[in-house]
Amino acid sequence: MKIILVAGARPNFMKIAPILGAIKRFNQNRERIFEPILVHTGQHYDFEMSQSFFNDLNLPKPDINLEVGSGSHAEQTGKVMIGFEKVLQTFMPDLVLVVGDINSTLACTITAKKLKIPVAHVESGLRSGDMEMPEEINRKLTDFISDYLFTTDLKANENLKREGISEEKIFFVGNVMIDTLYHHLGKAALSQILNHLDLREGLEIKPFGVITLHRPSNVDHFQTFREICEALSEISKTLPLIFPCHPRTQERMKSYGIEHFFGKSLLHGDRIIITSPLSYHDFLNLNAHAKIILTDSGGIQEEASILQVPCLTLRENTERPITISQGTNCLVGTQKENIIKGFNLAMERKKGSFHKPEKWDGEAAERIVEILAGISKNKVHSLKEEQPFAVQNWM
Ligand code: UD1
Repeated sequence: MKIILVAGARPNFMKIAPILGAIKRFNQNRERIFEPILVHTGQHYDFEMSQSFFNDLNLPKPDINLEVGSGSHAEQTGKVMIGFEKVLQTFMPDLVLVVGDINSTLACTITAKKLKIPVAHVESGLRSGDMEMPEEINRKLTDFISDYLFTTDLKANENLKREGISEEKIFFVGNVMIDTLYHHLGKAALSQILNHLDLREGLEIKPFGVITLHRPSNVDHFQTFREICEALSEISKTLPLIFPCHPRTQERMKSYGIEHFFGKSLLHGDRIIITSPLSYHDFLNLNAHAKIILTDSGGIQEEASILQVPCLTLRENTERPITISQGTNCLVGTQKENIIKGFNLAMERKKGSFHKPEKWDGEAAERIVEILAGISKNKVHSLKEEQPFAVQNWM
């Protein structure tokens, strides 16, 4: 089974890594049935947003890099589709595997399906209910046309069934991002990030919180971004905050002239310390020791839950409600007073209300590969034989 695995942006890399690892183990220990091909679309391209993750996660150099870079949604999606079509025509895979909800996920899914190539979507069925989010559009459309839908929880199965997707396409496997987290906790513990940020005092670790912000709905609107900054500034009077900052957010800070909220070092008395985007191990180690995480990311809500660190999500909705019902997450929106209230409540709350979601056990990628192995080469071939016209077209 020739499988193209697609990775495009930062949150994809930690999802692809365990699947690639499980494929290799299957080939070595069981039967050599998979021929994996790794395609990087190049949606993220800065060292800190891409290569540093390949290094930490021990990912091989991609077989192909489409180098599409940044652009409007249409430009980025279109460039990925044009580049990926050529890749498909060259390699003629039996299956394309995509992860997450970024523009590359949707672009590669449409391209493969139009060439009648089956698609597997990992992290399927998540829904925020907010069609203003580009990711929600990407999720729904990807799921609608994919052939194998791998979900992280049973609510996602329900979402898919409600949208009319047939049950036999849906496989509840658990969370590959959490596979990676478990696998890397030991290596992350060796990170020097706490020393670099002056967060140690002798053998003790100073109390601190972590911020991440990159959603267009938060950082592309001056008023919203400013209100969030005011809340962070207030919170930082109680707890110093570390802010590894996404390039989009750095750009906005400069253009809005709100850099005065942020400083460079605790040693200079700054209370909100801004850093470049951190590597996977540094960021994991930082989060593992944080008193609280304030974020608008999706994946960090899940990671915070497993690390049992209270998480405030600065959004009006989440596609990951399980992190609220079973994890440490709390939706606080973007208004200053609600963020501060959420912070005060989270600091008072005792640990102990956490229930690890079902199948978030580090084995999700193994389950996926087991299922893919079961989808025999014959079956994939018979799918192609049903559509001889299309196959001839790209041969
Ligand atoms: C993308 C995903 C989002 C995901 C996020 C993780 C979509 C629609 N969005 O958002 O779901 O949560 O990645 O980070 O696919 N930039 C750089 N260097 C880079 C990459 C980006 O400087 O390596 C800057 C550019 O100015 C670019 C901006 O960041 O225009 C936004 O990048 P883009 O990939 O368009 O979207 P993200 O906000 O990163």
